[in-house]
Amino acid sequence: MGRLNPDGSVGACSACHQRHAFSAAQARRPENCGKCHLGPDHPQKEIYEESKHGIGFAAQVDDLNLESPKWVLGEDYTAAPTCATCHMSAVRTADGELVPTTHDVGLRISWNNRPAVSIRPEVSDKKLGLEKMAKVGWETRRANMVKVCTVCHSPNYVDNFYEQYDGVINLYNSKFAEPGLRIMKTVYDYELITRMKFDDPVEWTWWELWHHEGRRARHGVSMMAPDYTHWHGLYDVAKHWYMKFIPELREIVEDNKQSDDPRKIEGTEVLEKELKALLERPEHAWYTGNLNEKERAKRQEAQEDFKERYAR
Ligand code: HEC
Ligand code: HEC
Ligand code: HEC
Ligand code: HEC
Repeated sequence: MGRLNPDGSVGACSACHQRHAFSAAQARRPENCGKCHLGPDHPQKEIYEESKHGIGFAAQVDDLNLESPKWVLGEDYTAAPTCATCHMSAVRTADGELVPTTHDVGLRISWNNRPAVSIRPEVSDKKLGLEKMAKVGWETRRANMVKVCTVCHSPNYVDNFYEQYDGVINLYNSKFAEPGLRIMKTVYDYELITRMKFDDPVEWTWWELWHHEGRRARHGVSMMAPDYTHWHGLYDVAKHWYMKFIPELREIVEDNKQSDDPRKIEGTEVLEKELKALLERPEHAWYTGNLNEKERAKRQEAQEDFKERYAR
């Protein structure tokens, strides 16, 4: 798992297999993956526990046949999926095809939600020099995962899931991540803050926005955890975007306007223009006070409806 061994080889089987027991049951359990996949920047363990899948696992672990040498979803168990079920293990599909076990955990995922802006996995694999995997497009990888899901769900149910998943990723990318990246590039290009990373508040704000909060939203939606998608995810993204990131950028503009370096002055003009263009987009109109009358009335009505129902 990215480990560089003294003999020049890479990786460690013991990341997932305990050296002495080498037990399949241990490797298949979610706690195994949760050793690394947890915490504020990639809470897959917590997300799984919140999902119906994790709840099903906890309640029905005795029906999962975890000790069986052969462990094919659809033949040896169907009660609930573990991390290994979806990402690695063998599957007898609804059509009778046998999909073998894989140790390549990238083979069934169609987005890489780790960078600031989510990208397709073949793109990131190419950047990492993984030539073989760079040839496997996201559509193939998604089709691989769908074979797992459709052992337990109808195709329509699974399509609906992917539609909602893609919807959140596209929203996050276009509303926050792409413009945020562009703006931070301007800040650095014109040296409106120091070159030293993480010595300015805006650098911490932007980093946590995509690397913690933005990932929680994306990872949450990818694995059926509503609370991580919203309260630990997009809620925090929005709060810090509007209440920290934008105000800090405005402060940077004001500070640099006092500069006697013409390049910085030019930078403040570029940044101001970018901020203006960004905030004029309809998705930010509520914040700038520029909602049109129709939308304003619609929201007012929704608020009153809500109060009518709950504020008793
Ligand atoms: C990401 C975690 C992970 C890593 C790293 C890992 N394994 Fe596995 N391995 C598993 C899981 C989970 C299973 C159980 C799969 C199943 O039964 O569905 C497994 C099963 C196996 C099996 C049983 C045969 C099979 O395919 O079912 C062998 C043998 C094995 N692993 C060898 C290795 C070796 C050798 C390495 C290092 C080169 C390694 N594993 C690294 C997670 C891992
Ligand atoms: C020792 C730590 C560790 C353990 C244990 C571990 N992983 Fe990972 N996993 C990682 C790291 C590190 C990455 C790569 C992150 C990156 O490239 O940014 C990763 C990446 C992944 C990815 C994304 C792959 C891709 O191509 O984008 C999946 C899916 C995944 N792991 C699933 C699992 C599953 C399932 C298990 C348990 C069977 C597991 N991992 C166990 C550390 C771990
Ligand atoms: C019900 C099946 C299912 C289970 C169970 C499951 N996952 Fe996932 N996982 C997914 C799907 C679907 C995606 C998103 C795939 C895509 O991008 O198309 C995903 C994405 C991921 C990723 C990629 C994150 C990234 O960068 O985008 C990691 C890592 C991961 N899962 C780890 C885990 C771990 C660890 C567990 C157990 C604690 C787990 N998964 C349980 C289905 C599952
Ligand atoms: C081993 C069987 C199994 C597999 C594999 C599986 N699921 Fe599920 N899934 C379940 C069960 C059981 C439930 C709970 C159903 C219920 O409410 O009765 C569930 C619930 C769900 C829900 C509803 C979540 C909620 O909060 O109500 C979604 C969405 C979902 N699964 C999507 C998927 C997707 C997408 C995949 C593949 C990536 C997948 N599942 C793989 C068994 C599975």
